[in-house]
Parts: sequence; C-alpha cells; structure tokens
Amino acid sequence: MLIVRGGAGLLNARTRADKIALVPTMGNLHVGHLALVEAARAKSDDVWVSLFVNPLQFGQGEDFDTYPRTFDEDVAQLESAGATLLFAPSVAEMYPGGVESPTRVSLPPLASELCGRHRPGHFDGACTVVLKLFNLTGAAYACFGEKDYQQLTLVKRMVVDLNLGVEIVPVATTREHDGLAMSSRNAYLDSNARRKAPSLYAELAAIRRQLEAGRRDFAALEQAAMTSLEADGWVPDYVAIRGAELQSPDGLEEFRVLGAARLGATRLIDNVKTGLSP
Ligand code: PAF
Repeated sequence: MLIVRGGAGLLNARTRADKIALVPTMGNLHVGHLALVEAARAKSDDVWVSLFVNPLQFGQGEDFDTYPRTFDEDVAQLESAGATLLFAPSVAEMYPGGVESPTRVSLPPLASELCGRHRPGHFDGACTVVLKLFNLTGAAYACFGEKDYQQLTLVKRMVVDLNLGVEIVPVATTREHDGLAMSSRNAYLDSNARRKAPSLYAELAAIRRQLEAGRRDFAALEQAAMTSLEADGWVPDYVAIRGAELQSPDGLEEFRVLGAARLGATRLIDNVKTGLSP
C-alpha cells in the first residue's frame, strides 16, 4: 500500500489508477471501516483510503484535539484489508489558507436539522472535506457508512446538486454483538457507559417494531424513546422518525429512525430502517 501525504503524490498515483474507489475516514479504524474497504474492493482494484481528522467539522469544545489518532495500527489494518493507497495529508496540506475561513460548501436546510441542530456547521465542514477528497482523488466511487445516515444523505445530495459524478456506495452499519453500532467514539465509554450504550439501538429498534406493526403516531413514539433514554441515564439530543431521504414521515410507509444521545461526555448516534435491516 502506497502512503501519500500530498496532492502532488496523488496526481502521480492517479495516472496509474483506473476507476478509484475511495473510503474517506478520520482514522482509528475498526471493523466498520474495514467493511467500507471491503465494499470498495467490490467496486474496484484501486482502493484508496483517506485518513484525515478534519478540523472543519468539529465545533468549539468538541473532541478534535483528543480524537483518537492511531496511524500505525490503521496502516497495518489497511494493508491486510487490501487497500492500495492511503492518503494521509496534514491540516496545512488540506487547508493551505488556514482553517478559519476557507471556501466551503453550503448545504440544503437538512444540514441544520437533527445532528446539525446540535453541531452547527458540522455537515458543511464534513461535506467540504469530502468534496476536496473527491477533487483530489478523482474517485469514481466513494463508500460511506449508514451509521452517519445524515452525512450519507447530504453527501448524496451534494453529488447530485454539484454534478460530481461520483457513485456513492452506502454500507450497512456494523454492530457489536450486543447491537452497539461500531464507532471510534465507543473508545471513550467507561465500563458502566459501555454496558448502557446498546440501549440507544434498542430504543430505535423498538420504534421500528412499532412502525412495522402499523403505528403512525410519530411524535409520541419519539417522545417515549427520549423519556426512556433519559430514565436510563442518557441525555438525548433527538429521536426522529423520517423518510429514507430524511424528509417528513407523513404519508410514507418506509422509515428511517434516527437518534443521538450523550452518555456522560460521549455523544453517540445510530439509526435503523424499517423493512429488512437487522
Ligand atoms: O465519517 C467520517 O469519518 C467523516 O465525516 C469523513 C466522511 C471522513 C469526513 O471527514
């Protein structure tokens, strides 16, 4: 696996690659990321992974400084997963004009809802770096986990709205044996919080069962889950029932149920869809 630090090295590698399948990451890789690499391998022999903790998508007081950085372990995992190139730029390489006020994308109102209400500017920052990675790599495919379902939805919108011509490949959430969605932030949980953590998924799955049984009192279902999470020691940001494109659920028959909640200082997100998903 070739390790590239700058845009010039990428340009060089692009001349030798065919249709590139990109996996954008912030590193600290776990089994969920490896599922993204696997999905990329199914699309192309040129599997490029980016590893960049993107300051633009972290707000004031969030965990940019403490976000786990495990470069050597990440490289070893990617080597055995079959990635062909790792792009690991510095902040100065990605934001040569500084991170204070770079050119950035302006997303549709969905970016200010759900997680966006609680993390203002987060999706603009995430989609800006994704757009830069698309431009730098010239990727034909890009794999994104469904765990960050709002991010996935906004990236898809950006690709359509800005005619980016990248095929977005969604990859189902990888879960621990007890249902907890894999996330780099799970590492922040102490043993007590780790024991409680699967209940976020359990609450969303309970709503899914109710929807599948025909209930359509969305607000009551959302509120009951929030109350139950609170009783369990969580501080929920939201529980929301939406359509597959995160539109209002009114009149729909297929739903995506999303939640974000804090256990102590750790904020976790998760989502499930009605129908076939586990
Ligand atoms: O999902 C992530 O890890 C990040 O938001 C991404 C897509 C790599 C952009 O920094």
